[in-house]
Amino acid sequence: MEQVVKPRIFVSRAIPADLEPLRLVAEVSVWEGELPPPREVLLERLQGCQGLLCLLTERVDAALLAACPELKWVSNMAAGVDNIDLAACSARHIPVGHTPGVLTDATADMAFALLLAAARRLPEADAFVRAGKWKTWSPTLLLGLELRGATLGIAGFGAIGRAVAERARGFGMRILYTARSPRPVREAEWVDKRTLLSQSDAVSIHLALSEETRHWLDAEALSWMKPGSLVVNTARGALVDEAALVQALGQGRPAFAALDVMETEPLPLGSPLLGLPNVLVAPHLGSATRKTREAMASRAVENLVAAVEGKPMVTRAN
Ligand code: GLV
Repeated sequence: MEQVVKPRIFVSRAIPADLEPLRLVAEVSVWEGELPPPREVLLERLQGCQGLLCLLTERVDAALLAACPELKWVSNMAAGVDNIDLAACSARHIPVGHTPGVLTDATADMAFALLLAAARRLPEADAFVRAGKWKTWSPTLLLGLELRGATLGIAGFGAIGRAVAERARGFGMRILYTARSPRPVREAEWVDKRTLLSQSDAVSIHLALSEETRHWLDAEALSWMKPGSLVVNTARGALVDEAALVQALGQGRPAFAALDVMETEPLPLGSPLLGLPNVLVAPHLGSATRKTREAMASRAVENLVAAVEGKPMVTRAN
């Protein structure tokens, strides 16, 4: 009987999905480390591979594609694809899978968790108690922002931005949003960037990162924010000019930043952000519920299996 040679696939981390469907159609090798494979190891392991299932920690750029000429399919276990040079992949007819949709609610919940924590000053409150400063109930202790009646500015009105709007409506907030074009959404007003920043009590960022949106919140944009306002970022760190944000936080405009994503991840311990009391940081946990991470991993597998079988990926980015 003729021996069918299966294509080879490299999976760049252990992921919470059943890899059996992939093993049925391909020779699968999984990176065994807890940290991402170093670049040279990634390139080495990809030699002779037709498929890559990667995470947002892997940079799939033109140099990688040139060094791995046999690569035919890429599947990213993330919705965002800023770690991948889509144009370079398209030029080589490499389909790139990603995992939008399945992480919408988990990420919107995280944005809301950060918004509530910032509005009610939970990081300061926790530090206050631990430092032994809690002497009595006080009418003016650690007063925060009440969400009902406050204005939330949502930058980027894709699935996650709209899911945040849905939550904000439940809290009785006035909702403004920016998008390329208005959306038929109840009780949310389409505005320009400057209006969004200057009228919102809190701004939550839900844009895709591209060359066009890099440093969307820069020094000028920060100067438009309301004194005392809050900013939440669960999208990508480079949407915010972090150096400018540090300056602005010192002047109380915004008064607080709750960040799940940073320009450099992991955030270096020497980052000036960590020296500020009005910052809450989390280690990129937007989609980190068991249910969502399993759904993302399964979708990443499904996309790759489809590609190996010559079928369209379920969710393709290019
Ligand atoms: C996570 O950040 C993602 O883009 O899925």
